[in-house]
Amino acid sequence: MHITPQTKAEVKPIAVKPEILNKNIWSIAGGKGGTGKTVLSANLGIGMAIFGYKVILIDADLGVPNLHNYLRVKRPKTTLDDFLTKKVRFLSDVIIDTPHKNLKFISGGTNLVGIANLHYAKKQQIIRHINKLEADLIIVDLGAGISNNTVDFFNISTCGLVISNPEPSANQDAYFFLKNAIYRRIKLFTKVNEEFKKAFNIYIDTNGNGVFEIPKFFNFLQEYSNNVYRDFDQFLSEFQPRLIMNKLRKSKQKHDGIWFVNLVRTFLQIDVNFIGELRYDKRIIKSSENVFPFIIRYPGSSISKNLFSILTDLNTTDMKYHSVRTFRQFKSLLKKEQKNWN
Ligand SMILES: Nc1ncnc2c1ncn2[C@@H]1O[C@H](COP(=O)(O)OP(=O)(O)OP(=O)(O)O)[C@@H](O)[C@H]1O
Ligand SMILES: [Mg+2]
Repeated sequence: MHITPQTKAEVKPIAVKPEILNKNIWSIAGGKGGTGKTVLSANLGIGMAIFGYKVILIDADLGVPNLHNYLRVKRPKTTLDDFLTKKVRFLSDVIIDTPHKNLKFISGGTNLVGIANLHYAKKQQIIRHINKLEADLIIVDLGAGISNNTVDFFNISTCGLVISNPEPSANQDAYFFLKNAIYRRIKLFTKVNEEFKKAFNIYIDTNGNGVFEIPKFFNFLQEYSNNVYRDFDQFLSEFQPRLIMNKLRKSKQKHDGIWFVNLVRTFLQIDVNFIGELRYDKRIIKSSENVFPFIIRYPGSSISKNLFSILTDLNTTDMKYHSVRTFRQFKSLLKKEQKNWN
């Protein structure tokens, strides 16, 4: 997708994007810790590199950056910190090579832990620099939590991927993550649509119990004004996050994903696209212990097949072309790749 940069004055009220990015960006989030965001970021990145795309993986977990482990990078020489603290001028200055020539990496820093809200100007600066990176695709491991930084980055991505698993707490955290993402988008819409802003403020003043429920707000808007309701509905429908269910132990746990999609549709009034699942598999833990990407270690396994299916879905919806059509082809390319990772 190519989004032409616009100045603030040119932004149309309905088709507004939260910020302006002209790259394919997949953000991996989930709310809860340990759901598999980093494992998936690394293996999706490698998979897309093998499909032939130029990929940059960014470890944006400012708390515990550990994506480098899966990329066979022992101690990253440069990190995101160096850019954010102006040690280097360009984001491209902190790019690190990985064993695959199509795959580059930007390591997360640790000095900025606890900065829950980066300034607007800083976020704009990061976006400007991301736009300048030479890549077909950027994949960002956002780390756990629902801080505004994480949610805002998720909102500006061309594809927001939520990773959950069958644990109730994982689903709850993913739900609250999405709720916060919607809330941040609503706040943004108040900045570009005056009529909507008036309606929003009236709703907050008259329903001042501190609980913001989207279905109730929709009902209020419908009574307030058809036009405002329609604009808001269209604005919200542009938000189409995707869901991956990880660590499934039984086939029937797939239903948890469907249940989650229905829950979000009912209470948050948005459509989440459930694009695939990854089975719980000890081989993933074993690969993690050996700091190794599982698709490289186990190319022909069922988990590698799960990943291929997710990649194919994402590729069809988000990217234009790749030459790897079957799992057999993918497996053989992965096998050839093994020698570069040992
Ligand atoms: N499908 C799976 N089967 C078995 N183990 C898995 C699976 N997916 C991930 N794991 C294991 O779960 C643990 C957490 O994974 P990972 O580090 O990717 O989670 P995370 O969401 O990035 O966590 P954090 O929020 O702390 O950054 C790792 O030990 C990993 O090997
Ligand atoms: Mg992680």
